[in-house]
Amino acid sequence: MKITIHNVLPAVVLFTGVASTFSGHDSAFALQHKRGPVKPRRVQSLLINPDAQPDLPTAKAANKAAAATGLNLDDIQGDILVGMKKNKQLFYFFSIADPTDFKGKLAADILPLITTTNQLLSVSTQPITLVNIAFSQTGLTALNVTESLGDSFFAGGQFQDLPNLGDPGSTNWVPEFTGTGIHGVLLFASDTDDNINNSVASLESALGDSINKVYSLAAAARPAPNVGHEHFGFLDGISNPAINGFTANPMPGQSNLSAGTILLGETGDSATRPAWAKDGSFLVFRQLKQLVPEFDKFLTDNPIVQHGLTRQQGSDLLGARMVGRWKSGAPVDLAPLFDDPVLGADPTRNNDFTFQHPNAVLSKNQTRCPFSAHIRKTRPRADLSTPEVTFGHIMRAGIPYGPEVSAHEAASNTTSTERGLAFVSYQSSISGGFRLLQQTWADSASFIHSGVGVDPIIGALAGAPRVISGLDPTNAAKTVRLTTDFVVSRGGEYFFSPSLSAIASKLSV
Ligand code: HEM
Ligand SMILES: *[C@@H]1O[C@H](CO)[C@@H](O)[C@H](O)[C@H]1NC(C)=O
Ligand SMILES: *[C@@H]1O[C@H](CO)[C@@H](O)[C@H](O)[C@H]1NC(C)=O
Ligand SMILES: *[C@@H]1O[C@H](CO)[C@@H](O)[C@H](O)[C@H]1NC(C)=O
Ligand SMILES: *[C@@H]1O[C@H](CO)[C@@H](O)[C@H](O)[C@H]1NC(C)=O
Ligand SMILES: *[C@@H]1O[C@H](CO)[C@@H](O)[C@H](O)[C@H]1NC(C)=O
Repeated sequence: MKITIHNVLPAVVLFTGVASTFSGHDSAFALQHKRGPVKPRRVQSLLINPDAQPDLPTAKAANKAAAATGLNLDDIQGDILVGMKKNKQLFYFFSIADPTDFKGKLAADILPLITTTNQLLSVSTQPITLVNIAFSQTGLTALNVTESLGDSFFAGGQFQDLPNLGDPGSTNWVPEFTGTGIHGVLLFASDTDDNINNSVASLESALGDSINKVYSLAAAARPAPNVGHEHFGFLDGISNPAINGFTANPMPGQSNLSAGTILLGETGDSATRPAWAKDGSFLVFRQLKQLVPEFDKFLTDNPIVQHGLTRQQGSDLLGARMVGRWKSGAPVDLAPLFDDPVLGADPTRNNDFTFQHPNAVLSKNQTRCPFSAHIRKTRPRADLSTPEVTFGHIMRAGIPYGPEVSAHEAASNTTSTERGLAFVSYQSSISGGFRLLQQTWADSASFIHSGVGVDPIIGALAGAPRVISGLDPTNAAKTVRLTTDFVVSRGGEYFFSPSLSAIASKLSV
């Protein structure tokens, strides 16, 4: 057995603990044999890994890819590139009460806990609880960090952007999001709530009065057999982009992007940034409530009627066509009439399609996948161009929140306890990432062709009814009028997730 130790020693290692100087299972083995019986910090991953999602690269493969492009995986906060693999997560929104005190604590107490990308890639180097931090513009301003990050939407904050996102005013917004009072968010993630609670309690006691908790949201992967599925029932997190310098082997059909699509200052990010912003990323947070019993009733009441389908199969097909994938993750483009769970679970095949087919006119034919389907609105693939455009991509890192639907809610077709998606996306440009997908694509009735209607999952018209065509494969011109928004925005904020070295050299001094 060949034992290798990648002894990477950038300055930041000083802050991240001894575990991050080693990577891979092999090195944990070596560590034990060199230093006696060191108990691994973890025996079980803090992440989930549904079959349908591509695996994360091994530490070894990621570091090889990183070395080839100069990406420093010890300096990039861990949440940015791992995608939708969190098990339990707490979003802890805070305001800075005493900036000078906070700066000291940011360096002394928070920075040593920040989990890096590298640390997450092997179980043996994972912390008990992932901790990451991101700041809003008002948070940076409170810290006297006033240089422009080159993104006007970040600078203005999400509340100022509310009229552009399809939300029907701020009545549904969590009150704490209606303004600019949130200075930052701490992300905690682990495999148990206990771990998270312990980590929160010890950080709170270290930070004392330097911050105030403004709001928090606890989130969790759904219980088996729905691990990895969002609350409407569909497997999520399948199609996140491969990133040069991180992903070892892009899966067939996975978008394959320069690191600068997600990380500031890297290849592919052409905006002007201060040097310290390099390897940071804009974090868009949205608390998206989902009306699950109402969504289910809509499917039950409006099955697609097609020869050979039972009523239940017709309802399932309608749901799959609204999303563009079946509950298993199988794309309707490849499995047009029935779910195919074997295809759904296979990451080498479940993303390998472009919406283009021989004997079908790409700009007209919706037999396989509606133009309005959620995954077609948010990633049009060949609809925009071949090869696919490199803009308009985000790294999704959200997680469901709220309990499972109760028997009472199901029977009454009515949500009584809030549940939904704690949506997180990372991108190097809010206008070229989240906003392009939400505002310009999902909320537009004429993207990608006139008359298709908005995205039936996330498209919104400030509360007005949504008229959508293409959902019925037997009659693409037929329209459906949705008077309920099954996804209701409860607001959010735009944040910046800095590199560890930016925290050390800029934000905490
Ligand atoms: C509660 C709200 C939402 C639900 C239930 C939801 C659900 C899903 C599901 C089931 C998938 C398919 C799995 C996958 O391809 O990974 C998906 C894909 C995707 N969603 Fe969402 N989503 C929501 C909100 C959003 C928002 C707000 C955006 C961006 C503005 C977004 C962007 C995307 C993108 C980019 C993909 C991948 C498309 C592809 O690459 O083929 N989603 N979503
Ligand atoms: C911010 O700058 C002002 C003016 O120079 C100074 O008085 C204040 O102490 C600074 N605050 C922090 C947290 O650095
Ligand atoms: C964690 O803390 C929250 C909030 O204080 C509490 O509701 C929950 O019961 C705690 N969970 C565990 C497992 O202790
Ligand atoms: C992904 O992009 C990189 C850099 O452009 C390229 O070297 C690699 O061959 C691409 N991989 C695939 C599978 O397209
Ligand atoms: C759409 O394309 C399919 C092949 O994917 C073909 O069988 C069908 O006839 C086409 N429908 C129309 C209306 O052109
Ligand atoms: C719930 O919706 C189903 C499907 O439309 C219907 O059969 C049932 O009567 C509804 N239940 C109530 C309590 O309205």
